[in-house]
Amino acid sequence: MKRIYFDHSATTPVDKRVLKEMLPYFGEIFGNASSMHSFGREAYKALEQARGRVAGLLNCAPGEIIFTSGSTESNNLVLRGIIKALGEGKKAHIITSSIEHDSVMEPCADLEKQGVAVTYLPVKPSGVVDVGELRKAIRPETILVSIMYANNEVGVIQPIAEIAQELSKRDKKIYFHTDATQAVNALDCDVNKLGVDFLSLSAHKIYGPKGVGALFIKNKSPLKGIQLGGRQEKNLRSGTINVSGIVGLGKAAEIAGEEREKNNKKIGKLRQKLVKGIIKSIPDLLFNTDVNNSLPSHAHFSFRGAEGESILLYLDMEGIAVSTGSACASGSLEASHVLSAMGVSEEIAHGSIRFSLGKYNTHAEISKLLKKLPPIIGKLRKLNPIYKK
Ligand SMILES: Cc1ncc(COP(=O)(O)O)c(C=O)c1O
Repeated sequence: MKRIYFDHSATTPVDKRVLKEMLPYFGEIFGNASSMHSFGREAYKALEQARGRVAGLLNCAPGEIIFTSGSTESNNLVLRGIIKALGEGKKAHIITSSIEHDSVMEPCADLEKQGVAVTYLPVKPSGVVDVGELRKAIRPETILVSIMYANNEVGVIQPIAEIAQELSKRDKKIYFHTDATQAVNALDCDVNKLGVDFLSLSAHKIYGPKGVGALFIKNKSPLKGIQLGGRQEKNLRSGTINVSGIVGLGKAAEIAGEEREKNNKKIGKLRQKLVKGIIKSIPDLLFNTDVNNSLPSHAHFSFRGAEGESILLYLDMEGIAVSTGSACASGSLEASHVLSAMGVSEEIAHGSIRFSLGKYNTHAEISKLLKKLPPIIGKLRKLNPIYKK
């Protein structure tokens, strides 16, 4: 059976062009990029080429990019590293939203235990942060605002440039971080247009390899490394440089920038077909993605009277891969904090399925899903003794 993958928010397949660029770095070009001999120098050259490519995507200076193991690390580094640089022992306040990824939520919760105050902004039913609420939350000791660019579950896009503008009106500098992990494929990530001081991204969400990412740090922004050792990456990220992975990230970033418009158009049409088809053939559902303000790849539904996990497993038996929400947090059967923040009741949230489309999906694949899904929902509802139409 030819399998179908609709879970690009969890991870993407590696683009063949990315893999081709990476392969020599598992073989003949194996040096440590910090070594001074020729082996080291050729690895270093590749590292710096990749840095230039990521900087090109973000329209920043190459010196403003550091490489990490992915967005989880980039997010942790910003949140903990800025406290280390500015706030340790002082009164400090961070503002974030209530729909962030766990790699922002968890470090924030941990910082709270250390005495840092954190405000989790509510969102509107569409999932968008209210800039008025942000304005009200700012305190004299606010040092950082961290708001994701696009959400991994429902795909909603946040008004990053508008938030940056709001923050720039303050007398005292408030640093601004955005987790752009899900946004890079589809949205312009020019850091000057966005007005951010920090931006996190991850290679495996943009058809690159897993375990490698980057953090944009605007020139002179305060940050201290949280991982101590060999002082690589300006002493902000100790650890031997993952040259092959970074080469892959560089190529993936270059392709993402060049092919963004083409992919958005294609994926947007596929989503339109998927959404129309589902809404036409399945009654009694919530469509949680605002198509006018979301990543073109995402379509998130809650089907009343059917468990998300059961839908996922029945689709999996048909060779179709989807998610019940955030794969990064899977294993937990708790209702999603994103849907709760958007005001979706726990009962209906349990019937949620996220479709996240990618550049290799086809119309035929959407047609197959539209044939298979309605009978699955029908069957699950019939089996549910408390479901009433
Ligand atoms: C919005 C967001 N932030 C952060 C991460 C974590 O990224 P990584 O897997 O590179 O650690 C994810 C992964 O799903 C994500 O979707």
